[in-house]
Amino acid sequence: MSSEFRRRPYERPALTRHPLENLGTGAWAHRPFPVVQDVDGATVEDLLSRFGSPLYVIREGVLRDRVRAFRAAFEARYRPVTVAYSYKTNYLSAVCAVLHQEGAWAEVVSGFEYDIALDLGCPGDRIVYNGPYKDEASLGRALAMGSLVNLDSMTEVLRAETAAQRLGRRVPVGMRVNMAQEEGAWDKFGLNLDNGQALDTARRIGASEGLRLAGLHCHLGTYVSDPGAYGRAAERLARLALDLGAGAERPIEYLDLGGGYASRSTLHGQLLSGAATAPTPGQYAEAIAGALHEVLPETGARPRLILEPGRALVDEAALMLATVLSVREGTPAESGALVLDAGVHVLPTTTWYRMELVPAGVRERMGPPREYSVHGPLPLDADVLRDRVRLPPMVPGDRVAFLDAGAYNISQSLQLVRGRPAVVLVDPAGRAHVIREAEDPRRLAERDRLPAHLDAHAAAHDPEAPPGT
Ligand SMILES: Cc1ncc(COP(=O)(O)O)c(C=O)c1O
Repeated sequence: MSSEFRRRPYERPALTRHPLENLGTGAWAHRPFPVVQDVDGATVEDLLSRFGSPLYVIREGVLRDRVRAFRAAFEARYRPVTVAYSYKTNYLSAVCAVLHQEGAWAEVVSGFEYDIALDLGCPGDRIVYNGPYKDEASLGRALAMGSLVNLDSMTEVLRAETAAQRLGRRVPVGMRVNMAQEEGAWDKFGLNLDNGQALDTARRIGASEGLRLAGLHCHLGTYVSDPGAYGRAAERLARLALDLGAGAERPIEYLDLGGGYASRSTLHGQLLSGAATAPTPGQYAEAIAGALHEVLPETGARPRLILEPGRALVDEAALMLATVLSVREGTPAESGALVLDAGVHVLPTTTWYRMELVPAGVRERMGPPREYSVHGPLPLDADVLRDRVRLPPMVPGDRVAFLDAGAYNISQSLQLVRGRPAVVLVDPAGRAHVIREAEDPRRLAERDRLPAHLDAHAAAHDPEAPPGT
């Protein structure tokens, strides 16, 4: 542990009140089941009969509310602030377009994501380009278009110098740093602040003919539920900015605190639900802005504060509707089992999160709750979506909804055995729009190529073919 932490002042422990109904699936969780009958006015039955089951459903109104609330929380405490939506979390064009309409910039980590942002009309100077690997072409293009490019390693510093030489001008760049954290740092990315690597690299950039250090970036991890970790990172980043700014021709122009702000999803093994424990945007903003106000001088231009939220904006804006395919009734000693038409290939975050699962659609029977394990349709033992969940008695054909499914499920979904389902966006007037069509499994084989000696149809017509082919 670094001396940084030993020097930290004593902090009074804080007691937080948690309402009992938020305590997940404990013995006390006998509350009535919430049933998802409609999504912002579009009924579950109508959605599933029109677009098929399973179905991802994105709520436009929630997306807008989340990004407005997130930005407002920060702007109330610090200015200027930029929210750059982290595309990797869910890069469906319609999702990104809604967030851009709300003023969010794009945070991308590949040329592919960069293209989506450009196609949506996002100007180059409103794109933050991160990631551990930026190929020469996409790096050169991003620098030429005035994007905020955060260099991740000395290799990338050299690559950016070559790109600047080609452009024939000096270009501003950012530098990604990592630092020791109490909960274990993500140190695969960026230059290390504790061992002097970050400072050396910053000086190297400062001395470069082609580059100018304009920003510092730090991404702590994902689902970081301690706002204090952001406060500590902001403090160290601001101090580094002051050190580097002193004597430089221009001060550091932006401090980018990355993403990682928790949504109300609940991790496996977490006692309290995420809804009860996830900090609010205001709590994160308080920690970050508080640290910046403490370190940065009161007068003069302040660096822009950039935030790259992903899950905190989109997770709660989506749900997945699915249908029960078969039911194995439980015994008093053993829970029952449900097989759904949605599996881990389309809900990959069930590996880490205990996704909230509730009944959906029209339910005439409720009855006393039963305990079920919940499985997908894949022929894999690992296709388990919930190992234990209480639901009203289920029969084949019943509908269910996985809540808070917007982050990392669609972008990480796999095509396996079946095609991936459609995605619809329900607008605030309750109209459903297909924003990604379901994959047609027959088209999945279209790009396969069969060598001639394996082609049964060709062999049948080839008199020269050796016997047996
Ligand atoms: C650099 C960077 N910024 C932002 C994010 C978004 O993180 P989250 O979705 O946890 O907010 C990530 C995710 O890994 C990231 O690597």
